[in-house]
Amino acid sequence: MQIFGVDIGGSGIKGAPVDLGRGDLAQERHKVLTPQPSTPDAVADGVKEVVEHYGWTGPIGVTFPGVVTNGSTIRTAANVDKAWIDTDARALLGERLGGLPVTVVNDADAAGVAEMHFGAGRDRKGTVLLLTFGTGIGSALFIDGVLVPNSELGHLELGGHDAEKRASSKAKEDGDLTWEHWARRVSKYLAHVEMLFSPELFIIGGGVSRKSGKFLHLIEGIKAEIVPAQLQNNAGIVGAAMRAVETGEA
Ligand code: BGC
Repeated sequence: MQIFGVDIGGSGIKGAPVDLGRGDLAQERHKVLTPQPSTPDAVADGVKEVVEHYGWTGPIGVTFPGVVTNGSTIRTAANVDKAWIDTDARALLGERLGGLPVTVVNDADAAGVAEMHFGAGRDRKGTVLLLTFGTGIGSALFIDGVLVPNSELGHLELGGHDAEKRASSKAKEDGDLTWEHWARRVSKYLAHVEMLFSPELFIIGGGVSRKSGKFLHLIEGIKAEIVPAQLQNNAGIVGAAMRAVETGEA
């Protein structure tokens, strides 16, 4: 079965039909730049452009970089336009896409669902935490393979700061930090998360997971196993499509 997945990020809106049997894209993905300002209306046009690129007319799963309740309502928007807060994204996107059924899911939760089924978390029981390091820090918490949605661990306090402002990959770029310096911050952050949840496994996702060779060996003081995500850039798209099925939209 194929479902369309769209990943809304701070810099790009990417999408493709997803082959749910293989957990992979059925066609090469299409990307448009996220409009600035990233208002609901402008982003909805971007999503429409991506979906129309394929002439898609079936169900769609969409990720959003903030808290999403009931596959529909946006509650927070740390790294996109604040006008999203309290927007009914399912209604907005559904209407813009001519009535196609839409499910919306937090971006890290979507990536986590995909990794647990098809990637680094396959067959893993107990407490597993996927953390995405990008513009912000996203988190997906699993207990015996079941998602606890909207865990938002990127906003834990770390040394008096919002953790993602210190340890995201944007923080590394903005501060021109070396891998060693950034890895010290990530280690501190992971130690804090480990103190709270004692996970068996950390999966490190987000754009930076492609460069895990540069920093995973620099992370210190963590008892849990730490592995890079395997689906990398496509995890959000695949997970969004999976979520559309799990929530009954597809
Ligand atoms: C948001 C999360 C999101 C993460 C990654 C954070 O700022 O609060 O909802 O998953 O960024 O995009």
